[in-house]
Amino acid sequence: MAKNGLRKVGFVGWRGMVGRVLLTRMEEEKDFALIEPHFFSTSAPGSKGPVVKNNQTNLKDAFSLAELKEMEMIVATQGGDYTKKIFSALRSSGWDGYWIDAASTLRLHEDACIVLDPINRKVIDEEVKNGCRNFIGGNCTVSVMLMGIGGLMNEGLVEWVSFMSYQAASGAGAKAMEELIQQMNYLANHFQGVNFDSLNADQEMEELFGRNDFPQKTIGQPLVNSLLPWIDTEVQKGQSREESKSFSEANKILNLASPVPIDGTCVRVPTLRCHSKGLTIKLKEKLSLEEIESLLLSSHPWLKIIPNNRKATLENLTPSAVSRTLNIHLGRLRKTNLGEEYLNAFVVGDQLLWGAAEPLRRALLILLGESERLIHERKE
Ligand code: HSE
Repeated sequence: MAKNGLRKVGFVGWRGMVGRVLLTRMEEEKDFALIEPHFFSTSAPGSKGPVVKNNQTNLKDAFSLAELKEMEMIVATQGGDYTKKIFSALRSSGWDGYWIDAASTLRLHEDACIVLDPINRKVIDEEVKNGCRNFIGGNCTVSVMLMGIGGLMNEGLVEWVSFMSYQAASGAGAKAMEELIQQMNYLANHFQGVNFDSLNADQEMEELFGRNDFPQKTIGQPLVNSLLPWIDTEVQKGQSREESKSFSEANKILNLASPVPIDGTCVRVPTLRCHSKGLTIKLKEKLSLEEIESLLLSSHPWLKIIPNNRKATLENLTPSAVSRTLNIHLGRLRKTNLGEEYLNAFVVGDQLLWGAAEPLRRALLILLGESERLIHERKE
């Protein structure tokens, strides 16, 4: 503990996209009043850190075990390579503080808890009680899905889930977002003021995509006017790593008596920062839509059920309706023609908030013993 009685919390990766969103949220909610923050850098230790609480300190060295060990908690949004490099060495050096991390590196480790407290607060509390020291944010598309249907899954009412995800460029990082905008610009510049033939415009685009100066170094392909139905590497039998996480991480988050099979296809789409997931859910029981909605709504206050009609759906069940908010919109709820127990649903959430920064921020508050601040903070 620092001399002022506050806990020393180190932040690594605060300049990155998830780190910036995290700091903004912490400033909005005045969380910095609860801690003594220390900012670390992997590239420029010694230079000036961010101004927080009207105070600016010099950046500490993110590779210095001695400096890291002074912290009681470390919040890392630096990425998996950093975690791989430093975490084991830090633990081996005897540091037993809380490690809160956005990277996937430790998620499935036995001694790590995946945090998504509106859905798995009981699991988190149990882990804290059992002495767990590693609290890791889940994969974004998994967290968004569970913020949508976790209420049903927690009740043990789901037999299996089949999904199609529609994942924003932000999931691939800030550079991918920039490149998507550059791709949009490239097309806009080409077509601006030109009388183009709609029927043949896509052929013209294909020609543009083949040009040497078409921006696609980061994404690897044109994402504009397209979609990319493969995210990350292959794990087994034609399944991508991103797809495999829906089963492994969701079941670890929920910690249900028996794991729920979850599988589907993860697709990158040309949106900036909202992930969406289309779901077919096989229920264990014949529940009415009213019962389902009421169960879902009771899970947490950020969930909004969008009525399953054309107008409400097109106005509210879209990335642009949800982007930059903590709201999770769930809609297209209907029993499918496959049978009474087969539920259709569609969920949209901000990839950088519930998908990344917010669960970390809330894990920090829980570990600080400040849980009461987690209630009543829903904003429109
Ligand atoms: N892997 C995710 C994506 C983002 O590519 O969209 C991180 O959870």
